[in-house]
Amino acid sequence: MSALAIRLAGIAMESPLVLASGVLGTTASSLRRVALAGAGAVTMKSCSLQPRAGHPAPCILPWGGGILNAVGLSNPGAEGAAAEIAEFKRTCPVPLFASIFAGSAEEFGRLAGRIAGAGPDLIEVNVSCPNVQSEFGIPFAADPDACGRVARAVKDAAGSIPVSIKLSAQCASLARMAEACQRNGADAITAINTAGPGMWIDTGTGRPVLSNRVGGVSGPAILPIAVRAVYEIRKAVDLPIIGTGGVSCANDALQLIMAGADAVGIGSAIYGGGIGLFGEINRGLEDFLKEGGYDSIGRVQGLAHREDRP
Ligand SMILES: Cc1cc2nc3c(=O)[nH]c(=O)nc-3n(C[C@H](O)[C@H](O)[C@H](O)COP(=O)(O)O)c2cc1C
Repeated sequence: MSALAIRLAGIAMESPLVLASGVLGTTASSLRRVALAGAGAVTMKSCSLQPRAGHPAPCILPWGGGILNAVGLSNPGAEGAAAEIAEFKRTCPVPLFASIFAGSAEEFGRLAGRIAGAGPDLIEVNVSCPNVQSEFGIPFAADPDACGRVARAVKDAAGSIPVSIKLSAQCASLARMAEACQRNGADAITAINTAGPGMWIDTGTGRPVLSNRVGGVSGPAILPIAVRAVYEIRKAVDLPIIGTGGVSCANDALQLIMAGADAVGIGSAIYGGGIGLFGEINRGLEDFLKEGGYDSIGRVQGLAHREDRP
């Protein structure tokens, strides 16, 4: 067995690297390309019950320190997503994580039931998108009780399929959020979603660049926030964590793993580095383990918790 192989919520993965939701994850064929490039699992773009157009262009801005995006959760709806899941499962053995979002706990439950029927390996619950606040209000991920109700509704509908709740770093206490997820049956936690929202102004025109004015911040700028978030969640609960945010090289991935992540999501870096990044980071992780004399990635997981300095 490879030194990078892990089990996450009972799912066997050849590598801890996961394609994060929203980047290249709408169709079975694009997900398959990423899977073949070395991802241990791939996450689909979040889907809603009904199809959504999302926000008009420009909705993605690489600004130098990362990406600002206000895609607005455009997706083909539950039926379209279910067809892509079924097609992927027919043609690719790599684990597939579906991603869902909705406006109420009840709607999350209905959507989870439909998506579970298509047979994904895990359902990720997006309660933390910051760029649709004008439509959906403050994300569920800011309130432990609201988030717990969503987790419970999805768990009740998902049957035997494991459920991961995707949290935001922006809440009063990540420990309380994680505990609410655990109490309500979550099998894993994904952290973090994009931060912000943020705004970028074109000083030539004096106007915000994105059509939505604001968007979620991702990429290198948020890596230290993601590392801190994973560290706090690991201290609070013993659920598996898919640490996500700002990873673009093996050293970034190792930081999240040492903070306590079991797996590592990669999103924005693909805009600059392409899908070859998965193979590159896998090789970087293998080299690190070999040089340190570790026989598996599990040996370095949570290392940062070894001693809590005063
Ligand atoms: C263009 C874009 C679209 C995204 N869409 C989604 C989405 O549909 N659902 C979701 O849960 N997260 C979405 N995200 C957030 C990512 O999955 C990830 O949590 C975040 O970008 C931090 O990781 P990164 O810095 O590696 O991109 C999106 C991110 C980007 C850049």
